[in-house]
Amino acid sequence: MNIDLNKIAGLDDEKCLDELINFIRVQVSDEENPIALMANVSAFIKAYVRDLNWAGFYIVRDEGLILGPFQGLPACTRLSFDKGVCAKAYRDREIVKVDDVGEFKDHIVCDSNSKSELVIPIFNEEDLVCLIDLDSPKPARFTELELEKFREIGQILENTIYL
Ligand code: SME
Repeated sequence: MNIDLNKIAGLDDEKCLDELINFIRVQVSDEENPIALMANVSAFIKAYVRDLNWAGFYIVRDEGLILGPFQGLPACTRLSFDKGVCAKAYRDREIVKVDDVGEFKDHIVCDSNSKSELVIPIFNEEDLVCLIDLDSPKPARFTELELEKFREIGQILENTIYL
């Protein structure tokens, strides 16, 4: 595994996301430990997606969403099911994209630099097991391209993370 940051800098966003998808496919086939897998997936995302200040996982537990492996500043360790962007993705069982977190009622601030956010639910069969949370300091950072590619990443990670 060799991440060449100079190469990444020369790629457009679509190529970066395609490379990211390839790396995640390899990780999923090489590693079945959920902590190792989530740790490297968040590191790959942070390396391959430009303009992110936070990328990581929240794990679904009976009592709420618990912080998992991530890249970025320290974050809220526990989120309830009824407040914030991650909780909305949990309740709706769908990707949530927020272009301006200031406009999102109940947004939970972990890093005040975050301006836009994308949350992707990950399933094992019917069970929602964890969520990937991405924060950007740029408003409206996430476009249709990111939605399409992260929907694919969500599918690749389906039935791979057993916690
Ligand atoms: N903003 C999230 C909380 C998690 S941090 O962004 C890492 C939310 O509203 O659920």
